Parts: sequence; C-alpha cells; structure tokens
Amino acid sequence: MSAFLEERVLSVHHWTDRLFSFTTTRDTSLRFSNGHFTMIGLKVDGKNLLRAYSIASPNYEEHLEFLSIKVEDGPLTSRLQHIQVGDTIIVGKKPTGTLLIDYLLPGKNLYLIGTGTGLAPWLAVARDPETYEKFDNVVVVHGVREVKELAYQEMFEQLPEHEFLGEIVKGKLHYYPTVTREPFRNQGRITDLINNNVFPQCLGLPALNPETDRVMLCGSPAMLADLKHMMEVRGFKEGNTTTPGDFVIERAFVEK
Ligand code: A2P
Repeated sequence: MSAFLEERVLSVHHWTDRLFSFTTTRDTSLRFSNGHFTMIGLKVDGKNLLRAYSIASPNYEEHLEFLSIKVEDGPLTSRLQHIQVGDTIIVGKKPTGTLLIDYLLPGKNLYLIGTGTGLAPWLAVARDPETYEKFDNVVVVHGVREVKELAYQEMFEQLPEHEFLGEIVKGKLHYYPTVTREPFRNQGRITDLINNNVFPQCLGLPALNPETDRVMLCGSPAMLADLKHMMEVRGFKEGNTTTPGDFVIERAFVEK
C-alpha cells in the first residue's frame, strides 16, 4: 500500500513573489494533530519529489492548507509555485512533529513564535479550541522582512469576530506581527525585542518566565538556534515527543 495520498488543489493564493499558500482536498483517512507536519510534493519524471510542510489548516477542517516559500532553483518549490486549481499533489499519510501542545507542560501563557513560513503550524494551533482550554493567553508572533509578507494578518485580526471561534479566542488570542526591513508599527527581530524587554511587556504580559510561560518555535535554523539559547538562559527546558517541556522547536524548511 502506498504511503501517500493524491489530493486535488482547490485554491492557490500568491502573497508575494516569495510566498504562496494553497488548499487541497483531504482524504477522510488522513488524521493529524494541530501543529503536525507531513511530507508533500509532486511527481516529477515518475518519482515523488517531497519536502516537509506544516499543515496550516486545523484538523477539524475538510480541506488541507499549506504555506510555502518560492525558491527559484528549489527542486520542489520552483515547480510547486506554478500549481493550478485541479492539479494533483502528493500528501504523506503519516503527519508527525513536535509542535503540539501535548508536548508542553501545563502553563498560563502560550507563545507561538514563527518567522517566514514558520507561521504555518500556528495557523492550526491558534485555531484549535483545545489550545484555549489549556492556556489563558495565546500569543502568535510572526516575524518577517517586509509588511507584505505578513500572510494571514487579516485572518488573525478578525479571528475574535469569527462566528464559531470568536467567543473562544476573544481576549485570549494576541497577534503580534513584526517587520525587520521596513517601517511598521512593530519593528525588529523577535530576539532583539525580547532581549530589550520590549516583548512581551508591550502586550501587558510579564517578561518570559518558565514558571508560567510555554513557547513553541518554528523558523530558520539561525533563528531557532538563537531563540533556543535565549530560552535556555531563562531556565526553559526543551520538550519532545516523549518528555513534555517548557518549549518545543521545529525547523521550517527554507531551501525547498
Ligand atoms: P532580518 O530581516 O533581520 O534578517 P527570512 O525571510 O530570512 O526567513 O527571515 C524572516 C524573518 O526572520 C526576518 O524578519 C529576519 O530578520 C528574521 N530572522 C532571521 N534570522 C533571525 C535570527 N537568528 N533571530 C531572529 N530573527 C531572525
């Protein structure tokens, strides 16, 4: 039996010349937890060309959604960026990963920190009602170079008015976009904002503290290395799929 499903592209949205997202059909047999990634890709010359992608759609949705960069000479994304409605993509049957609230110890405030396409897992975790049962505050941080790369900004800003999720997230969900290479209301790398005591105090929340706070990180290897170090210096312990901790990490693949 094949380890892959074939799904049909339902919609494609190009955010910028570096970033796009798309939705596909979802086989009813595909089960996953919010925060999981799976292998997806295209058949090229009879072979599967696959990369790991976080599933951006929550697990109660009937479709799947993915957020991707476009790399001009990237074996997969140079092709994937041209997909059209009706095309077929391949989706791995075994989603997995460490960015699950189950792998965090109980806490008060949950920080979901992502740069670039590292936002993708938070699109599922922040739209999961269970997240708000476990945490009083859920802070989604998205760090990008340019304002136009703030994909899903409107979705996050409008979530408190959402017909079903609105009541659940209102007053608990805090969306914090930050931009590094042009003027914006929040500016600077998230690492600098934390070190300079700007964040999370700007949201009216106390400085990061392992007693009360839990953190999930998704982004480039350099961002992960810096933030992991900063967490450890502050006394946070890393969790994994076997031992829950104060923070968990996953790499958002950047060379696709
Ligand atoms: P910067 O513009 O200063 O490089 P990218 O598109 O390269 O993945 O970057 C996404 C965002 O992540 C950018 O705002 C970038 O800032 C930021 N970034 C890159 N490296 C780090 C790091 N080591 N720590 C924190 N933020 C980072």
